[in-house]
Amino acid sequence: MVTADRAPVALNTGVPHIARIYDYWLGGKDNFAVDRAAAEEALTIMPSLAARARANRAFLGRAVHHLAAEVGIRQFLDIGTGLPAANNTHEVAQRVAPDSRIVYVDNDPIVLTHAQALLTGTTDGATAYIDADARDTGKILGRAAATLDFTRPVAIMLVAVLHCVRDEDDPHRIVSALRDAVPSGSHLVISHPTKDMEPAEMTEVAARLNRVMSAKVTYRSHAEVARYFDGWELLEPGLVPTALWRPRHAHPIEPKAMWAGVARKT
Ligand SMILES: C[S@@+](CC[C@H](N)C(=O)[O-])C[C@H]1O[C@@H](n2cnc3c(N)ncnc32)[C@H](O)[C@@H]1O
Repeated sequence: MVTADRAPVALNTGVPHIARIYDYWLGGKDNFAVDRAAAEEALTIMPSLAARARANRAFLGRAVHHLAAEVGIRQFLDIGTGLPAANNTHEVAQRVAPDSRIVYVDNDPIVLTHAQALLTGTTDGATAYIDADARDTGKILGRAAATLDFTRPVAIMLVAVLHCVRDEDDPHRIVSALRDAVPSGSHLVISHPTKDMEPAEMTEVAARLNRVMSAKVTYRSHAEVARYFDGWELLEPGLVPTALWRPRHAHPIEPKAMWAGVARKT
């Protein structure tokens, strides 16, 4: 099911967009010349950005797998979905439990045009896509209720998206509205780019991207990202670089980039 009730937003292929820049760094093909130029320019400042994007994607996969396989979560609300890539949330969750129910949310028109590719889940479970802005939690929760049972635990996923919400748009209000809508036993998954690691390069990357993108990015510190988890109980190993969140290998070689954590609502 795809829910898109706004007038189709014309794709602006003349302005780079974070979903398509990220797609390029991941090796995807759903991007335009302006996105590739912005992505390449950022890579000249920090060549490890592509590996960092992959490390984030791998974190997403490990977090979903952990929640499905070890915690028994069967419902996922994945906000800031991105373009379809390897190991989308529904694929990881439904490989563990085919009855998993997943709702994807994104506000980018090109993600909407690819949403059908995300809706190929199992017949035992369900996948749905909502075309909405993360800031519009009322719309998201109202629409998601058609697929998710909010009396049962839900994993709220805000993976590499909160940096797209500016301080003046109050990202903490988004997280608390979502927290208030789910019962105890629900989980929160966040990853967030930061300038804490390699600050000079990350400051330059943010400045270059913000010069050309219409939706600006805000990189946040460990303390600022930790605040999103106020009122939640962080699972081990806490808020750590993506590569160090329950790595599959003892000594992960991925670059340490974003902060990542998973927490439980008590
Ligand atoms: C860097 S990508 C991350 C994709 C995926 N979560 C992952 O980690 O692989 C950020 C995604 O968030 C989406 N996004 C950015 N701002 C948003 C907003 N205000 N509301 C909904 N989606 C947003 C973008 O369109 C993009 O698809």
